[in-house]
Amino acid sequence: MQIRLCDPKKDLDAARRIWSQIGWISDSNDDSRDMLIQRGRGWVMDLEGEAESLVITFPGSLRYLQDELSICAVTDVATSRIGRRQGMAARLTARAISDNAADGVMLCVLRIFEQGFYNKLGFGTGPYDHFVSFDPTQLKIDRKARIPSRLSADDWIIIHQSRLARMRSHGSIIIHPPEYTQYNVRHSTNGFGLGYFDGPKGELSHHLWCSIEDSRHGPYDIKWLAFQTYDQMIELLALLKNLGDQIHIMKVPEPPGMQLQDILLLPFKHSRITKKTPYQTIITALAYSQIRILDLESCINHTHLRSEPIDFNLELEDPIVDYLDKDASWRGIGGSYCIHLGEDSSLTHSIDPSLPTLKSSVGAFTRLWLGALPATTLAVTDQLAGPSELLDRLNWTFRLPEPKFDWSI
Ligand SMILES: CC(C)(COP(=O)(O)OP(=O)(O)OC[C@H]1O[C@@H](n2cnc3c(N)ncnc32)[C@H](O)[C@@H]1OP(=O)(O)O)[C@@H](O)C(=O)NCCC(=O)NCCS
Repeated sequence: MQIRLCDPKKDLDAARRIWSQIGWISDSNDDSRDMLIQRGRGWVMDLEGEAESLVITFPGSLRYLQDELSICAVTDVATSRIGRRQGMAARLTARAISDNAADGVMLCVLRIFEQGFYNKLGFGTGPYDHFVSFDPTQLKIDRKARIPSRLSADDWIIIHQSRLARMRSHGSIIIHPPEYTQYNVRHSTNGFGLGYFDGPKGELSHHLWCSIEDSRHGPYDIKWLAFQTYDQMIELLALLKNLGDQIHIMKVPEPPGMQLQDILLLPFKHSRITKKTPYQTIITALAYSQIRILDLESCINHTHLRSEPIDFNLELEDPIVDYLDKDASWRGIGGSYCIHLGEDSSLTHSIDPSLPTLKSSVGAFTRLWLGALPATTLAVTDQLAGPSELLDRLNWTFRLPEPKFDWSI
């Protein structure tokens, strides 16, 4: 079973067959995902001359405090019915990650189908996403929204630009090719957008994109809110409130750094009286995405912390190596390092016997570095261990803003 680069022309039929088998497209004539292999970077594995497993990545970046770090986002991992449980998806994903890493990409992110599969490739679970479902008339907002402009899927280029220019917070990501936003807006059910062109040159400054589950009374599924100031965010929420005479329930991804519950009227009462109805007021949290470091040195060099400097040894275990072919140009980041963290952080490839040692899987260390969880709890629930004094100090070192990807992969 050979891995090769995807050839969008040659492999399109096979890709559609796989996607239709797994229910991601309606049938093999459905062209809705074609863009992904045409615009993304793909790898396939053949059985008897036909691609039976497929992985696609897209380039992007992640905000780490004030720095912008390169990422690849794995958008597709799929194996046909006849190819299952042969190790194809794991090997292909490892190869896609290895090729991106060999090109200098610093991090990899993906959305999981279940916890566990990608942990074997060195991924750690990312932050929780909160989804707030509420009756828009519950919003405690007095602000009157101005009349917005209508946005349709045909506006995908300006919508993408508005997403790129949105207020960014620690951990937020972007996927660079605008066609990825085109894909998102084209394939939301009865999707529509509303927004305002307040940019200095009349650019789309803030907008929301909505997918409709039931157009009479909702749910309306708000896919994203993109804004550059909190004032603009309030205007978007005020817009949603305007729709509340008809729409009883809206599901909104909680913007980073916010608790939308703060601006909901009587959230507990509404939750109780709407329980088990299609219009339930509820806030749910789930971590759908995982992340791993590909280039440890670059990630550490971009770590500028205002906490007390700290030095320690790191023994890093990278399980991806078991899934890589022998000739892979990048073979994971397992090894021993000496790390200095502070305003200017650095790494050397040798250990200092006088320093305490942290032992960690790549996934657990990525979570610590991102600020997803403290060292002391990762030591209980993930693969991370060290002297308690070191773990306590690392808790203080990585007191970062709560990371949020703020972009659904
Ligand atoms: C998920 C999927 C890509 C796996 O494809 P595959 O080629 O059969 O996968 P592999 O053979 O490489 O890996 C299967 C192994 O992973 C293991 N595995 C599956 N889910 C797991 C989990 N949640 N935790 C740990 N291991 C898991 C299997 O038990 C199997 O183990 P084995 O090799 O010891 O038998 C395939 O089932 C598929 O296409 N599903 C539908 C599309 C989808 O959900 N894609 C993922 C998008 S994020």
